[in-house]
Amino acid sequence: MLDLKDKVAMITGAAQGIGRACAESFARAGAYLFLVDIDQDSIRKTAKEFNDSGFDCLALGVDISSLNQVEEAVRKALDKLKKIDILINNAGITRDALLLRMKEEDWDKVLAVNLKGVFNCTKVVSRAMVKQRAGSIVNIASIIGQIGNAGQANYAASKAGVIGFAKSAARELAARQITVNAIAPGFIKTRMTESLSEEVKNKMLERIPLGRFAEPEEVADLAVFLAGSSARYITGQVFRVDGGMVM
Ligand code: NAI
Repeated sequence: MLDLKDKVAMITGAAQGIGRACAESFARAGAYLFLVDIDQDSIRKTAKEFNDSGFDCLALGVDISSLNQVEEAVRKALDKLKKIDILINNAGITRDALLLRMKEEDWDKVLAVNLKGVFNCTKVVSRAMVKQRAGSIVNIASIIGQIGNAGQANYAASKAGVIGFAKSAARELAARQITVNAIAPGFIKTRMTESLSEEVKNKMLERIPLGRFAEPEEVADLAVFLAGSSARYITGQVFRVDGGMVM
């Protein structure tokens, strides 16, 4: 159960949703948590809740689309914790609109957080992992990056980018025994999806063979597996957690 004892896991977007579920699963697996989120108040609150439940963690307010902020946060973490073994690139946003109506800033913002944010965190953290000659990186992509979705051209492009990025990083970092994989979730019950209309949700449900939406923990469980020693020979792969939506 404590497969990740003595490991340090950095999780982005950890204040809620899938990131928060990852934090819980990694803590239960024995890892020390380094949590970041753009929402400083929420991530502090989350950290306090973990501390109160007996799980030690470091939490910092960071906008992952800023390389400077990521560098500063990782420097602080390394000063305190000496290493980072696991990076879960989870933070992501949507700014949905049909292509003809999509504003330039909606395109830029989604690409800046979802894709450049993954580049920033991976670049900075992998520098430490290369020295350690070990590490596991898991990117939370999306099935939308593989199949596309009307109204989500920006999001789909960012998530397809995350998958291509993971495969390239996997090839570059393999020689140092660092694995890089991606998880492509389908429809997960979080704040990101709760605002969708009942009509959209019902249409989605019809396309899910398992007939239900997923809990964030069902993504977190796979992230823990991919970061653990049982997955040490797995790299450059994309795993769908989508109830069979895409086969
Ligand atoms: P969420 O909206 O519930 O949580 C995202 C977290 O990321 C929030 O705490 C937010 O403050 C943080 N965040 C946003 N921008 C940030 C930035 N610039 N820097 C640092 N933190 C930032 O979202 P959810 O649903 O938990 O999604 C997590 C990841 O899973 C995202 O990458 C999303 O694209 C992906 N995903 C979600 C699916 C779903 O059905 N919920 C399906 C497929 C993928």
